[in-house]
Amino acid sequence: MFKIIIKRHFLLNSLIAALALPLSLESPANTQLSMTQIAAQRYDSSKDIFHPVYGKYGMVASEQELATQIGVDILKQGGNAIDAAVAVGFALAVVLPNAGNIGGGGFMVLHDAKSNNNFTVDFREMAPNKATRDMYIDNNGNIIDGKSLYTHFSVGVPGTVAGMEYALNKWGSLPLEKILEPSIKLAEDGFVVSNTLANTLKSETETLGKWESSKKIFFKDGRPLIAGELLVQKDLANTLRQIAKEGSKAFYEGDIAKKIVAEMEKHNGLITLEDMRGYQAIEREPIIGDYRGYKIVTMPPPSSGGIHLVQILNMLENYPLNEFGSNSAKTIHYLAETMKLAYADRSEYLGDPDFVKVPAKGLTSKEYAKSLIQDIDEEKARVAADIKPGKPQSYESDQTTHYSVMDEEGNAVAVTYTLNLNFGSGIVAEGTGILLNNEMDDFSSKPGVANAFGLIGGDANAIEGKKRPLSSMTPTLVLKKDKPWLVTGSPGGARIITTVLQSILNTVDHSMNPAEAIVTHRVHHQWLPDELRIEEGLSPDTLKLLEQKGHKISVKSPMGRIQIIQAKEDGFYGYSDPRNPDGKTIGF
Ligand code: GLY
Repeated sequence: MFKIIIKRHFLLNSLIAALALPLSLESPANTQLSMTQIAAQRYDSSKDIFHPVYGKYGMVASEQELATQIGVDILKQGGNAIDAAVAVGFALAVVLPNAGNIGGGGFMVLHDAKSNNNFTVDFREMAPNKATRDMYIDNNGNIIDGKSLYTHFSVGVPGTVAGMEYALNKWGSLPLEKILEPSIKLAEDGFVVSNTLANTLKSETETLGKWESSKKIFFKDGRPLIAGELLVQKDLANTLRQIAKEGSKAFYEGDIAKKIVAEMEKHNGLITLEDMRGYQAIEREPIIGDYRGYKIVTMPPPSSGGIHLVQILNMLENYPLNEFGSNSAKTIHYLAETMKLAYADRSEYLGDPDFVKVPAKGLTSKEYAKSLIQDIDEEKARVAADIKPGKPQSYESDQTTHYSVMDEEGNAVAVTYTLNLNFGSGIVAEGTGILLNNEMDDFSSKPGVANAFGLIGGDANAIEGKKRPLSSMTPTLVLKKDKPWLVTGSPGGARIITTVLQSILNTVDHSMNPAEAIVTHRVHHQWLPDELRIEEGLSPDTLKLLEQKGHKISVKSPMGRIQIIQAKEDGFYGYSDPRNPDGKTIGF
């Protein structure tokens, strides 16, 4: 599918470029050109094949066109990037039900133009108070298959509503009621199910089909909705209406909280009204890095993403990647070797900072990076077992979503949030329309022992009541002279960090425009399993050279779905990853 999309974009963009080139920007005929055509002319069109979307005043990039449009409408109505980001967050809960959510959680990284400062909001789910370290282990000490994924025990206390409200109150300018209006309408009237959503629904037939409350919404005639049918979510519309009226209080204390708790009580789940009332979004100090003169602003723990993104960048800064070339065997070799080192550390040191001490400063220091790369051999891949024994990172799914927003005032917002797996636990809390997450699976169910996916988690990420599970979500801003230059992020589970990393390398080191930076093939190494994962399509010569260095290559399906926006002197340039054909960037 990936290849076909590339081909289609290639032809389309070549045609656009060919049509657009003879016209001067000043020409009156220019008014006939679309923003993308203008972008094709302006952005180094002589060398590029893929062209970004252009917008002079603002831009939104998300995985669903209706949600992107809602964000753009908010900007056009005078809202700022934070208003738009909150609106997109609620809209995706309606139109991207497999990952967008109000029953899950995530992270926001933002630049506030007024104070010229950078902030992060942690609205990751929290373990219910009654959660215990061994809650997924039977009397024989074995992990109970599926308990942390598809039962009421898999649900963490949702954080999205608190996080969105926090951001809106502190940095937004529009009332919540206005922000929620378009999402309520979409939930009430319904929207047409796309091919992508239909396929996802089909693949989760069993997960959703177990629960009457979920079937009522996502099924018709005993099967999941198919492409072209209308997905109407009346209960969700009512829930959003209550949030619009009463704010997050409705969700955490009022009628919605009571319904979520009733759902738990009916199935012996752990979340209580006290858990709901006790949930708080937390503002945390961003992780700040410096990469070749650009400032990296990214998410601190309980995300592992920011720390390891900066750690890998610090290591890579010691090599002339531009000289090595994008996706040359030499570049990929250094990417793999540095990724391995970071992921080995991840398993050892990362967890909820409110519960465990995370050596963030040490892990992100330039000196530490220098010391780590001492043992990298230019010619030979290191065997994972030689780097550090034991403890790979815990499993994280790739059914997450990311969106990016920028406005003309200079605000920039990156949000990555999730239900964990597609549709989370698959359980809709009766009468609310809210799909509940299964984020508890991001904890180490049994520290030191492989989970269902053959991976092992560390002690720092063991389950405790009120703790937040470790995540890889890496919403990130790149600043140039202290002003937002790039907003980036992606879903992709453990591969999020390396996906975001490559979007930065491609723009900074290889001077690619946002479209080129996204479509370029990606690679990934996470230390264990000891394999260098590469997207299909890289030249066999390159793979052979890597194999000669000792890399165990695994050619796999596409990784990540980046939504990227770049600010230049004349406006914004962005792109939605074609690895999801539903993604859409709109500028104006
Ligand atoms: N659930 C995926 C993550 O948080 O990284």
